Amino acid sequence: MRSMLFVPGDSERKLEKGFGAGADVIIVDLEDSVAPQNKATAREIAARFIIERRGQTSPAIYIRVNDLSTGLTDEDLAALVPAKPHGIMLPKSNSGQDVQHLSAKLRVHEAESGLTDGTIKILPIITETPAGALAAATYAGASTRLAGVTWGAEDLSAAIGARAARDEHGRYTDVFRFARTMTILAAGAAEVAAIDTVFPNFRDMAAFSAECAEAERDGFTGKMAIHPNQVPVINKAFTPSIEAVRQSAAIVAAFEAAGNPGVVGIDGKMYDRPHLRLAERLLARAKAAGISG
Ligand code: COA
Ligand code: MG
Repeated sequence: MRSMLFVPGDSERKLEKGFGAGADVIIVDLEDSVAPQNKATAREIAARFIIERRGQTSPAIYIRVNDLSTGLTDEDLAALVPAKPHGIMLPKSNSGQDVQHLSAKLRVHEAESGLTDGTIKILPIITETPAGALAAATYAGASTRLAGVTWGAEDLSAAIGARAARDEHGRYTDVFRFARTMTILAAGAAEVAAIDTVFPNFRDMAAFSAECAEAERDGFTGKMAIHPNQVPVINKAFTPSIEAVRQSAAIVAAFEAAGNPGVVGIDGKMYDRPHLRLAERLLARAKAAGISG
C-alpha cells in the first residue's frame, strides 16, 4: 500500500477516474467528502460501482465509513460489505477498542455476506481526536484485522481549536508533528503499515514531492492522495530505488555468507543487526512493489 487515493463515494465520474489512476488502493469515501443529505445516495452509488468493477480492477478497495459516534456506521457497513471491499478505513478512531468495536460489527456483516470471518481489514485514522492521538499505543495487538494506521490534521485542528496546522514555512506545528510521530510509533509497535496523511494543495507538486520524500525517510510506507495527479508521485517516492534494493540485498547476502553473525563489514563499513532488519524491511517493500535487485 504505497498510494491510497480518496474518491468521494457519491461521484460516479470520480469513481471512474479514480479506478484508473494507478493507485495501489482506492478509498471510497462515505465520510467528510460526502454531504449529510447525500450519504444514502453515496452508499448506493459506491456499492453498485464496486460490485460492477470487482475483479476487473487492480487497486484494492477500502471504504471510509462514518465514525462510530455518528450512528451511520451500521448503515454504511450494511450497504458496502456485500460489495466485498478489502478493508474499512475508520475515521476519528479513539483507541484500539474502536477497532475491536468495528471488528465485531464486521464479523456480523461478513457472515451475512458469506465472507470468512476476518477477511476485511481495518485501517484507522488515529489522530483525529485528541483522545485518539494520546491512545496511539493501544493499537498494538488490538486486532488481526489491523492493516495499518494513518493520521489526519483537519479534524484534530477543529477538536483542539488550532487555527492552523502548519507554520509560516509550511512546517507542521508541534501538536501535528506529535500526531505524525505517534502514527509512526503506533505502526511500529503494532507491526503494521504507517500511512502518511493527505496534502490538500493538489496543484503544488514540488511541495508534495518533498513531503512524500520526508515521509518515506521517516518510516512511512505509503501516503494518502486526494487527487489522481498525486498518485504517481507517491508511487515513485515509496518504491525503493534499484540502488537501495541492491544495497539491501548485499547486506542480507553478507550476513548469510558469514553464517548469520551479529555484525559484518562491507566495503569498510560496519553493519549490525538493526541494519539487517532495515535491509529486510526494504526488500519486503520492494517485493510488494514488484521490484527485484
Ligand atoms: N478521484 C478521482 N478523480 C478525481 C479526483 C479524485 N480524488 N480528484 C479530481 N478528480 C478528477 C476530476 O473529476 C477531473 O476529472 P474530469 O476532468 O473528468 O472532470 C480531473 O480529475 C481533474 O480534476 P481537477 O479539475 O484538477 O480538480 P477538481 O477541482 O475537479 O477537484 C477536488 C478537486 C479537491 C474537489 C477533488 O480532487 C476531490 O474530490 N478530491 C477528493 C476529496 C476527498 O475525497 N476528500 C476526503 C479525504 S481528505
Ligand atoms: Mg475528516
